[in-house]
Amino acid sequence: ASTLDPLSDTVDFPLGVAIDQRETVGAAADVLTRHFDQITAENHMKPDAWYAADHTFTPSAQATTLMNFAAANDLRVYGHVLVWHSQTPDWFFQRDDGTPLTSSEADKEILRERMRTHIFSIAEYLSGTWGSFGSDTNPLVAWDVVNEVVDDGSATADGLRRSPWYQVLGAEYIDLAFTYADEAFNDVYADPSTDRPVSLFINDYNTESGGKQDRYFALVSSLIERGIPVDGVGHQMHLNLGVPISQLDATLDRFAALPVVQAVTELDVPTGTPVTQPGLIEQGYYYRDAFRVFREHSADLYSVTVWGLTDGRSWRDDSGAPLLFDDALQAKYAFWGAADGE
Ligand code: XIL
Repeated sequence: ASTLDPLSDTVDFPLGVAIDQRETVGAAADVLTRHFDQITAENHMKPDAWYAADHTFTPSAQATTLMNFAAANDLRVYGHVLVWHSQTPDWFFQRDDGTPLTSSEADKEILRERMRTHIFSIAEYLSGTWGSFGSDTNPLVAWDVVNEVVDDGSATADGLRRSPWYQVLGAEYIDLAFTYADEAFNDVYADPSTDRPVSLFINDYNTESGGKQDRYFALVSSLIERGIPVDGVGHQMHLNLGVPISQLDATLDRFAALPVVQAVTELDVPTGTPVTQPGLIEQGYYYRDAFRVFREHSADLYSVTVWGLTDGRSWRDDSGAPLLFDDALQAKYAFWGAADGE
């Protein structure tokens, strides 16, 4: 068993990690529960994870396992993700006869209803088994309501990605997702004695850089101005050693001016390949400096989540050992750096 001091004790915000059920047992679970106080399902609460091949709503054993693991170990669950263009069944965007939905009013109505049913089915399931949201028995505290809705380029006037959701519903789909999620998670299936128990986030990548950040900022500002129930802004922060730390600081500073909280939702920092000892040391300093910035922003930060527990399990392992622990569950320089930023 690990004898390291818990990393979560060195920060004033909840510290999260993305996992699947492999991290809920054995030595991995020991390391996880020692150092983290929040989990996110890396894949098993994404839109396609909730449906059987015949399109029926069928919660996965993985989602259930993660909720039970969180409830048993006093971990918070940050949900990821309700509405996205990726890892979403094709039939979402088709009529029952398999033909594609268009932007006709009749087809818009089909997709609105489908989104609403999707969100309400998840809320009903997650409250039915673990109790209403906000009650002591339910570990769910937040959702990424929409993910990656901002365009990577500047070609479109509204700055929004032309996703299948957008192609049918236009920009309206973002408003609808928050409105439905608020109704389901903070009203219909919420503990009546609590006030907005589930925080609703928008989430995106490359939010620390240039034009994408401007488009993201404009969108979030517009949601807030129009009274859309958004509680928080997520910055994925899939970084690399070349991203200046000052840019992370400037990003959190800029969004701190808005009346929302912020979360670092998917942090990873590969070294590049081949993985070398100097690269791992440089990575350690990078995590140290990044966590210093996060600590300085504690008052604005809802949570910071690392996108995986061990390097070999990372979606970016090909880019070079991006996380805090190696495959033997040993703390890397990255871990010591994160702890040392205190
Ligand atoms: C990634 C997972 O880590 C992979 O296991 C999966 O194959 C693809 O998705 N942005 C997101 C996350 O919001 O959901 C993605 O997670 C990484 C990029």
